[in-house]
Parts: sequence; C-alpha cells; structure tokens
Amino acid sequence: MSQVRRLRIGIIYGGRSSEHAVSLASAAAIFANLDRERYEPVPIRIEQDGRWVLAERPPTLESAGDTIARARLESGRAARATRELHLVAHPGDETMLTVERGVDADSGSDDAGHAIVTGLALDLIFPIVHGPYGEDGTLQGLLELADIPYVGAGVLAAAVGMDKAVMKVLFAASGLPIVQHDVLLRRDWQADRAGIVSELTERLRFPLFVKPANLGSSVGISRATDRDTLSSAIDLAAEFDRKIVVEEGVTPCREIECAVLGNSDPEVSVPGEIIPSRDFYDYEAKYLDDSSEIVIPAVLTPGQTAEVQRLAIAAFRAIDGAGMARVDLLLKRNTGRIFLNEINTHPGFTTISMYSKMWAASGLSYPALLDRLIALANERHTEKQESRTSVL
Ligand SMILES: Nc1ncnc2c1ncn2[C@@H]1O[C@H](COP(=O)(O)OP(=O)(O)O)[C@@H](O)[C@H]1O
Ligand SMILES: [Mg+2]
Repeated sequence: MSQVRRLRIGIIYGGRSSEHAVSLASAAAIFANLDRERYEPVPIRIEQDGRWVLAERPPTLESAGDTIARARLESGRAARATRELHLVAHPGDETMLTVERGVDADSGSDDAGHAIVTGLALDLIFPIVHGPYGEDGTLQGLLELADIPYVGAGVLAAAVGMDKAVMKVLFAASGLPIVQHDVLLRRDWQADRAGIVSELTERLRFPLFVKPANLGSSVGISRATDRDTLSSAIDLAAEFDRKIVVEEGVTPCREIECAVLGNSDPEVSVPGEIIPSRDFYDYEAKYLDDSSEIVIPAVLTPGQTAEVQRLAIAAFRAIDGAGMARVDLLLKRNTGRIFLNEINTHPGFTTISMYSKMWAASGLSYPALLDRLIALANERHTEKQESRTSVL
C-alpha cells in the first residue's frame, strides 16, 4: 500500500521585532496542533539579532491555558541552536542550507573554512513572525524569490498591513469608513513642532490617537487630549518610526474584531469583542495584565454583525489579502457608527488568540484552521504559476 508522503513544513518564528515572544507562543501552538500523520514541521527560528537557526527543539507552551505574558516558553536562548540556516533565494529543490561551522582543533576558534553545508528541502513555509521584518513583506519577498508556497499574505498585503498610513489610503479608496486622520514625517515634526500642532488641532478633534505608522502591539501609541499631550505623544511615536499617524479617537467606543480566511473568495468568522482592562487596548492591557475581557460572538444586532463582517471582507480585499487576517473595527457607542481601525495579516496565532477563538466559535477548530491555511498557501502558489511570465 502506498503511503502519502508527509508535507515538510518550515515554521519560521521569532524574529527581530518587539513581538518576538508573541511569535514563540504562536509557533508553539502550531507545533502542538499540526497533524503529524500529514505534516512534518521543521522549527526555523529567527533570533532577536536576525540570524536564522534550525532549532533543536520546537517552542512549547508549558500550559495551554496560559496567557502570552505568563506562558513560560522554552525560549530561543534556552534551546541552544547549533545550526545556522540560510534560505536559498532562487527556485530549486534545496529550500535552505544548514551550515555547521567546524572548530579549528589547534586554535579552538571558529574556522569558516571547515563549514559543513547541507541542503534542506521543504514543501511549504508557515511564517508566523509578527511585526517588522516578519509580517511587513520583507520575509514574504524572500519566500517569493525562493518560489516556495507559504502561508498568509503576499508581499504587498503584508507590507500594506504593516503600514497604518498606506492601509488607510487603500481603505479610503475602497470607500470604507475610516476615522479622520493625518500623516506626518518625523523630519517635519522636528522642523516645526508648533506649526504642526496648530495644523493638526485645526483639522482634527480631540481626543487624538498618535501612532508610529509601522509597528504593532500598541507600542508607541498614546492618546492625546490637548496640545501638550499631543506634543509628547508625537515625540513618543517619533522614537519608533519616521512616519506618524495622528487620528481622531472614536469615543466612547467598543472594539470589535473579525477573522478572515481565504484567498480570492475569503470567508469571515463571527465577530468578537475586546473589552480592554485599561483606558484603551495598550501594550499593558494586551500582554501584561490579563483582565481584559473577550466576548465571542460579540453582542451586536444582526444588522451590525452583517456590517462588520462585510467591512472585514472588504478590508481584506482592499489590501489584496491572502490566507488569513484579523480585521479590527471601532464601534462608536453613542452613534452606532462603525470604523475600520486596522487589518493584521499575521495576528497572534495561539489557540487562545482572538483569531483562532473567533474561528472556533464559527465551527472551525484550530487543527482544521491549520489544514485550511496550508491548502490556501498551495492554492495561491499554483495559481501564480498559471500566470505567464514571458511575453513570447
Ligand atoms: N481612533 C481610535 N479611537 C479609539 N481607540 C483607538 C483608536 N486607535 C487606536 N485605538 C486604541 O489603541 C489600540 C491600538 O491601536 P491599533 O491601531 O490597533 O494599533 P496596533 O497595531 O498596535 O494594535 C486599539 O486597540 C484601541 O484600543
Ligand atoms: Mg490593533
């Protein structure tokens, strides 16, 4: 009886961003739930300094019920890696090369001349790296060059999903509701602080949210209620990015999210709601204290549910999403108006993350979600190969 060969899947996790630990938790959940009869997962860790290594052991979540903050992870440092990994940035059978550096017996020093290089073939890549250098299109570009199927957004959607300023341009072009906002460059801010504060306060109404354009996890985001707090909010955001988004706060608001899954014909989950434990859903509320509440499905009227689901799909299409994305919306309590806040192409992906929980509540289990994402990655790769690459 012939046995179907298992798909060898490289799980790329970790990364250079401040969301390294979140990625370890996401990867741990993937390793714990991938069906070993069908898949052979390979742990590929990107260290905080950006080096790629073949991990000796995959990350594990000590206990599934833990929050990310409390999850004691077998972190990169604990499981010492011995083999460097290098992605081969052209099509071919060897997706990666592992390099083991020989140690010079005489001097005891690393000797590059004695490196042992071995090819590693993979069928598919599952990148689950959050933040810059992971979900911003850079990693996706490398995978495109290697011509290997990979889970999730392509280069464009990943890059746009990371840039809150460009994301809004595409949402607006698709006629989707977004809040009034402005985009400024750190250089201009440094040149004319008073002028910029005046311009912003003329055009936008307090409270304002100030955000670095290209970050996540609420890092560098603050709420400003007057000219003084606006200045310090811009100063803070400018520490993290050269581009800053200043936008009108939706207040009082409810935070509603939807999970989207698919390629050209995406499906949407039931909506969920996050009730932050603090003033807004800042870094502390997300990772350090776990008293924020989650309600799935969100308590909405049938009309509101349909509307947030429509907007979630439209947002996914607006950035040409693929595979998965979590769409975050803001619902203004007193008027009922719904605004698109952002789309996350590589949302937190543990079994207790919003993305997976919204699918679970919609009837799709975590292992089934993994199957779907892998199938979608292959589908997208095949579809791309059907396009002509030459005019002759
Ligand atoms: N315009 C806004 N009105 C009200 N709250 C906001 C607004 N923008 C952001 N927030 C609050 O800040 C949090 C983080 O902002 P968000 O744009 O989602 O950044 P991140 O990519 O870091 O998650 C949101 O979850 C919400 O609590
Ligand atoms: Mg967010």
